[in-house]
Amino acid sequence: MLLDLMFKRRSIRSYAEKPVENEKLAVLAKAVLLAPSSRGIFPCEYVIVRDKKTLEALSRAKAHGSSFLKNAPLGIVVCADTRKSDVWVEDASIASTYIMLFAQSLDLGSCWIQIRKRKNSEGESSSSYIRSVLGIPEGYEIESIIAIGYPEREHPAHTEDELDFEKLHYEKYQG
Ligand SMILES: Cc1cc2nc3c(=O)[nH]c(=O)nc-3n(C[C@H](O)[C@H](O)[C@H](O)COP(=O)(O)O)c2cc1C
Repeated sequence: MLLDLMFKRRSIRSYAEKPVENEKLAVLAKAVLLAPSSRGIFPCEYVIVRDKKTLEALSRAKAHGSSFLKNAPLGIVVCADTRKSDVWVEDASIASTYIMLFAQSLDLGSCWIQIRKRKNSEGESSSSYIRSVLGIPEGYEIESIIAIGYPEREHPAHTEDELDFEKLHYEKYQG
């Protein structure tokens, strides 16, 4: 059941030394292309990276919160042509979420690395740094990198007790 997968999904930042099988990568590739897109424009593009050196370079995209990518066997860079859609952020966020949920369904761990609006340790925008590492043309913005791999250890699933039901408002907002 999808809800069970969602309870089990945790942000995984340490990975076993085991590659992601081609068959699993093929499923992830199809899944992300199934993500919905506003007005059916599909402005997103996905760069699938398995090369260790490239992953290491990408792990330096941000001053904080991206270094663990160098030990991941796979990263999927989610970017979009911002000229095609004014709501590319929403499209790219849904695509990123699809990747994480499908990764969980394949017993893979994943973690979102925020790129949009972030900088590297030199003060350069993380997007422009990644554009130059991967040869992504101007006009494309990078939303995220989703790091993927087999978890090094088990992480406790979320539990029902953690859910903040007070965030739910029925019929009208109750303050
Ligand atoms: C939009 C977004 C950006 C995030 N950026 C990062 C990041 O740059 N680095 C990181 O290590 N985790 C990042 N995370 C993971 C969150 O820290 C994590 O989802 C949160 O702490 C909840 O933990 P859980 O995913 O295990 O449920 C991001 C998550 C989201 C949704």
